[in-house]
Amino acid sequence: MRPITAAAAALLAAGCVESPDALRNAGEDCGSCHRAGGKAPEHPFTAAGSVFATPDGPPARAGARGVVVALRDAGGREVRLETNSAGNFATERALRFPVAATIEDPATGRRTVGPVGRCTAGSCDLCHAPVPAGGARGRLLSP
Ligand code: HEC
Ligand code: HEC
Repeated sequence: MRPITAAAAALLAAGCVESPDALRNAGEDCGSCHRAGGKAPEHPFTAAGSVFATPDGPPARAGARGVVVALRDAGGREVRLETNSAGNFATERALRFPVAATIEDPATGRRTVGPVGRCTAGSCDLCHAPVPAGGARGRLLSP
C-alpha cells in the first residue's frame, strides 16, 4: 500500500475523507444545498459549518483544520466533529435543537464554550458569518 493510500484509508476509517467537494463552500450556508431538493441531497447534514482562524478575509484561506466542534443537543446527545483542511465540519446524525457547541483546539488545549439555547439551527454559518445574523458575534473561530 502506498503511503498516500494508507493515509486515505486511515481518513476513511476516521470518517473524514477529504474529497474536493468537502473542501469547497467554506463559510457558506451549508444547509441551502445539503437538504432534500438542494444541490447535495445525498448528504442532508443536520449540522454543518466552518471554523476559521481569522474573523474575516477570504474563506478559502482562513479555514482552521483539525479543530473539534463538540455538540450537545437538546436531548443530551453528544457529537464530536473534526474540521477538515478547509475548516469545514458536518454530520448527518439526528440532532435536536438548540445545540450547545464547544470548539476545542487539541493542539493548544484551548476551548471556546458556546451558550445553551442560542444555536437553534444546524447550518451554523447562517448566523456565524463576518456579517452575523441571529444574534451571533461572527464567524466560528479557532480558540
Ligand atoms: C452550493 C451548494 C453547496 C453548499 C453551499 C455546500 N455544499 Fe457541500 N457539497 C455540495 C455538493 C454538490 C457536494 C457533492 C455531492 C454530495 O457529496 O452530496 C458536496 C459535498 C460535500 C461533502 C462531502 C460529502 C461526502 O461524504 O462525500 C462535505 C463534507 C461537504 N459538502 C461539506 C459542506 C459544508 C461543511 C458546507 C458549508 C460550510 C457545504 N458543504 C456547503 C454542494 C454544496
Ligand atoms: C440562529 C443563529 C445561530 C445558529 C444557526 C448557530 N448559532 Fe452559535 N451562536 C448564536 C448566538 C446568538 C450565540 C451567542 C453570541 C453571544 O454570546 O453574544 C452563539 C454562540 C456560539 C458559540 C460561542 C462563540 C461565539 O462565536 O460566540 C459557538 C462555539 C457556537 N455558537 C457554535 C455554533 C455551531 C457549531 C452552530 C451550528 C451547529 C451554531 N453555533 C449555530 C447563534 C447561532
